[in-house]
Amino acid sequence: MRNNLGTKEHLMGGRILLGAALLLGLLGNLCETRAGVSNSLLDVSADGTLIACSNRDNGTVTIIDRSGRKVLHEIPVGAKPEGVSFLGQSHQVAVAVYADDRVVWLDADQGTRLAETSLFDEPYGVVGNMAGTRLYVTQEYPGTVAEIDAQSREVLREFPVGSLPRGIALDEAHQRLYVTEYLTAAIVAVDLETGKVVDRWQGPSSENLARQLVLHPTRPKAYVPHIRSRVNVHQGEGSVLPFVSVADLDSQEERRRKTLPMDSFVGAFVVANPWESAISPDGKILVSVFAGTDDAFVAEVLDDNYRELSFRRVLRLGHNPRAVKFSPDGSECYIYNALDFDLLIYDTESFNRQGHVRVCQSSLSEEQLLGKRLFYSALEPMVGRRWISCASCHPDGDPDGRTWQNPEGLRNTMTLFGMAWTHPIHWSADRDEVQDFEHTIRGPLMQGQGLIRGVVHDSLGTPNSGRSADLDALAVYSNSHKFTLSPHGRGGLSAAAQRGRELFHSAEARCAECHSGPYFTDSRPEKPFRLHDVGTGTEDATEKMGPRYDTPSLLGIYRSAPYLHHGKAATLEDVLTRFNRDDQHGKTSQLNPDQISDLVQFLKALPFEDPELSAKGAKLTKVEK
Ligand code: HEC
Ligand code: HEC
Repeated sequence: MRNNLGTKEHLMGGRILLGAALLLGLLGNLCETRAGVSNSLLDVSADGTLIACSNRDNGTVTIIDRSGRKVLHEIPVGAKPEGVSFLGQSHQVAVAVYADDRVVWLDADQGTRLAETSLFDEPYGVVGNMAGTRLYVTQEYPGTVAEIDAQSREVLREFPVGSLPRGIALDEAHQRLYVTEYLTAAIVAVDLETGKVVDRWQGPSSENLARQLVLHPTRPKAYVPHIRSRVNVHQGEGSVLPFVSVADLDSQEERRRKTLPMDSFVGAFVVANPWESAISPDGKILVSVFAGTDDAFVAEVLDDNYRELSFRRVLRLGHNPRAVKFSPDGSECYIYNALDFDLLIYDTESFNRQGHVRVCQSSLSEEQLLGKRLFYSALEPMVGRRWISCASCHPDGDPDGRTWQNPEGLRNTMTLFGMAWTHPIHWSADRDEVQDFEHTIRGPLMQGQGLIRGVVHDSLGTPNSGRSADLDALAVYSNSHKFTLSPHGRGGLSAAAQRGRELFHSAEARCAECHSGPYFTDSRPEKPFRLHDVGTGTEDATEKMGPRYDTPSLLGIYRSAPYLHHGKAATLEDVLTRFNRDDQHGKTSQLNPDQISDLVQFLKALPFEDPELSAKGAKLTKVEK
């Protein structure tokens, strides 16, 4: 505790810590472990007999017999399950089913579903208390933690914790929750008693994609794997960088959040896309998995407030490792290769692989699986220098919340959802098929060997499709993302949204002239493309392609701020007011603030019905490959 010495506050802090450590020791004696204390896609039961693993692509949770190393059950839970946690000392499991907006409760012994708890939107991380009476769940949108009673399975409280929270960890001894914001990598502390945010550890504005954090079992430290998205750099080395940040949870000093670069942790060995970390129960080893380069670092925890971690070894893994967890007795460590559907088992003495368990069979077609592996890969032939992958900016098809300074001007990353129905591609419609991303793969950003043999055709010229099975598979995967309904429209349109809908379709406002059809865009894959000048082309001095742009879909925009190609509009109101002074983008100047608000309520409710059904009815062209 040498860094807690000095001022009176620090001494007090030290004493509180000592008390906490004693209490922890006591609790430790009572129940041996603190299973489920930080969120993960993997968990081990407190008695060490069962492993639960959530399979996003299959919509299932697999229960594994730990000593027998075999699958006991694979239980269907719904679309895109993420965080999973055993409850207290029991064999009950709670899983956040992200795209279905609910927590599903399972009996791991029987392999059955017990119940479900509906939530507002997008639950991601799940942790429970040691007694197994409470569950805490991050809801990415609108940015809350739900506290759920594990007996009645009802939501007791819901508190705002920041923007798009994903990671969550519980420190019961101090009655605190820690949460990570996905697109800022900030750590937010919440006092459990009041439900109020009491502290925040934030790095520079480039920090991004923090899905998880782990707490040291005895010391006031948190470890957060994340990237930095450096939007002014348009080359492979230096645009996206891998980090583990270490936060000193008791310190009030300025340097209480430190960032450890993972691309220089071991000489010049570069890793990409840190996804999760796990700390051993004795607090001595931290393992971090890298979902882009398919490897992991095993590090000694120094906890010296200086170097923090020292290198022990690299583990070479399979495709897309997303989760890592220690057994409660610390003897084994598990890593889940999400795109091999395979759980690897390591002993923690040597960190040699002791075996593996095939968690489930892939439900993706072979082509989709191939395309998805390429999309997540930061290795050749996709990427030359290991820093970046398609998924670094389009994680799971979502935008990274950034506006990149591209050679052609500022470009806000867009969602890949619904893309099969909204070709052409890019704000400027300068690509007509995903296969044209061969230019990105070979260009300065990714510097890969590429997937085509021979010359790459011009983006709008002779097709590049049909020239490489790998590239076609990348297209099939990229075109496979589907929208889920907006939480603001799922139960039908509110009165305000209905008024907004009328304004949207009015001849005066003209919105529906361009934002037409089930995807709210007049884009079509047939040439000539329809581009429009809506007065937005003059805001950015670096723009080389404007002022005409492809009409973007309006589905899912409730959660995809910032807006417009240049990303300068922070809110939907801004799009309709500040950035539409001359009524070039529909006519909005006649609308009073209440009407603008109604229109925004309508936009936020999109989609309120499945666009794909209507698109099929309307005979729109779908591009699958
Ligand atoms: C450095 C971040 C970054 C990386 C890496 C990246 N993208 Fe993008 N992506 C963007 C941005 C920014 C845009 C918007 C660019 C534009 O419109 O000109 C975009 C747009 C797209 C679109 C257009 C979607 C639409 O509806 O028009 C597709 C498809 C896409 N990217 C696929 C890929 C694929 C495939 C890869 C890997 C080969 C990739 N991206 C790598 C940032 C990135
Ligand atoms: C003439 C065609 C046209 C009309 C009319 C039109 N839009 Fe747009 N809209 C576009 C284009 C093109 C863009 C992209 C502009 C850019 O990014 O610079 C856009 C962008 C948007 C965006 C931002 C989407 C995002 O993801 O960033 C919103 C929101 C929007 N429009 C809503 C509306 C509303 C509401 C109306 C009616 C008041 C309207 N639009 C009228 C063509 C149109």
